[in-house]
Amino acid sequence: MSAPELVELSADDTHALRRSVLRVGVPTTEVVFSEDHLPGTIHLGLRMDGALVAISTWVPREHDGSPAVQLRGMATASDLQGHGLGGLLLEHGCAMVAATGIALVWARARDAALAFYLRHGFAIEGEGFIDDATQLPHHLVVRRVLL
Ligand SMILES: CC(C)(COP(=O)(O)OP(=O)(O)OC[C@H]1O[C@@H](n2cnc3c(N)ncnc32)[C@H](O)[C@@H]1OP(=O)(O)O)[C@@H](O)C(=O)NCCC(=O)NCCS
Repeated sequence: MSAPELVELSADDTHALRRSVLRVGVPTTEVVFSEDHLPGTIHLGLRMDGALVAISTWVPREHDGSPAVQLRGMATASDLQGHGLGGLLLEHGCAMVAATGIALVWARARDAALAFYLRHGFAIEGEGFIDDATQLPHHLVVRRVLL
């Protein structure tokens, strides 16, 4: 396989992977996020051999009154998870945010993916909660991408 290539995507490009990775075993089938077309929202992915293998959506949205970016819809194709692709995409996205001068990235992390975020410098804030759409346990996680 070719090396993963970082690509900017349209919101529509993300739908197939959102459906196959993030909408399995959960009550919602919705793959459109209300933030998808907000000004400043960027969809980043990794492509290998022409196929989209990982996706992420980066939404300008304050955290505790500070300028920040919310990471949403982070997913790696099911058959390629655990090979470093998600980590690579996450680091590219955080570097992109830092380059704009914004210091914070936050996410509502599924508990099943918490270890992934903690390994990449995020810290848990507050108590766990059940997400309305997926009915899965989540925690809010925050990472400082600029010192
Ligand atoms: C969470 C998710 C995006 C991570 O993407 P990924 O491509 O699997 O991420 P990585 O491969 O970089 O890291 C995943 C694990 O594989 C391990 N790993 C990383 N590189 C590896 C490699 N080369 N070989 C073997 N294992 C590796 C890491 O230790 C990591 O373990 P951790 O979960 O304890 O941190 C992906 O697993 C996924 O789509 N999960 C389902 C959807 C989901 O939960 N999305 C997040 C919503 S908040």
